[in-house]
Amino acid sequence: MAIEEIEMEGPEARVPDTVARLIATCSRGWERFFADNDDHQAPRFVPSVPERVFAVLAEVTTRNLPPNRVFCEWGSGFGTATCMASLLGYKAYGLEIEEELVRLSRAIARRLGIPVEILCTSLFPAGYDTYAGVDGAALVTPASVRDHHDTDEDRGPLRYGMEIAIADIGVFFAYPWPEERELMRQLFDAVAMEGAILVVYHTDKDIRVFRKV
Ligand SMILES: C[S@@+](CC[C@H](N)C(=O)[O-])C[C@H]1O[C@@H](n2cnc3c(N)ncnc32)[C@H](O)[C@@H]1O
Repeated sequence: MAIEEIEMEGPEARVPDTVARLIATCSRGWERFFADNDDHQAPRFVPSVPERVFAVLAEVTTRNLPPNRVFCEWGSGFGTATCMASLLGYKAYGLEIEEELVRLSRAIARRLGIPVEILCTSLFPAGYDTYAGVDGAALVTPASVRDHHDTDEDRGPLRYGMEIAIADIGVFFAYPWPEERELMRQLFDAVAMEGAILVVYHTDKDIRVFRKV
């Protein structure tokens, strides 16, 4: 399998009122969160610029790039992108490892009446892991482990803790640390269905879109 990059128009989407309300609520939430957590306690959470993420998700949707309307945010933080995907018509899931962020993001979605499912779990499914490679973090897959241990267990479709399989997700969104960007592409290539879309936020001026081919 392989992935290809898709050119974006550098979109400037108008932010509807529902999205503006969501952004204002999340912004207040993470200001309070940063005030309550000093540098040593705060998890590695940095929010993306939601207006930029919305513009790209809106363009991806308008151009009908994903094979379906199922969205998953890898490392969902305050769940802003997950909620925006829901408002764009996706069945939207967020995966977040920090319990406090899961609690806060669920509360925001509930207060605004936005249907999302936020799971407190790692974005690395069972059998997947990372190791410090020569050029940054690299992905460990069940296949690479099997090569070493000579087992060929088949555990059925790969899932997070939700009803659907990972291969049923049409769009993934991630805002990784710079040293983990390649890792996100490797994971996407390893677990996503053919035709699925990956949106990777590098900076507010550099958001990349990939398709699994
Ligand atoms: C840079 S923040 C981005 C948050 C959000 N996606 C956004 O765009 O505002 C990365 C998030 O990923 C979460 N995270 C880090 N490693 C994770 C893992 N292995 N599984 C799930 N979430 C993870 C962090 O707690 C943090 O909330």
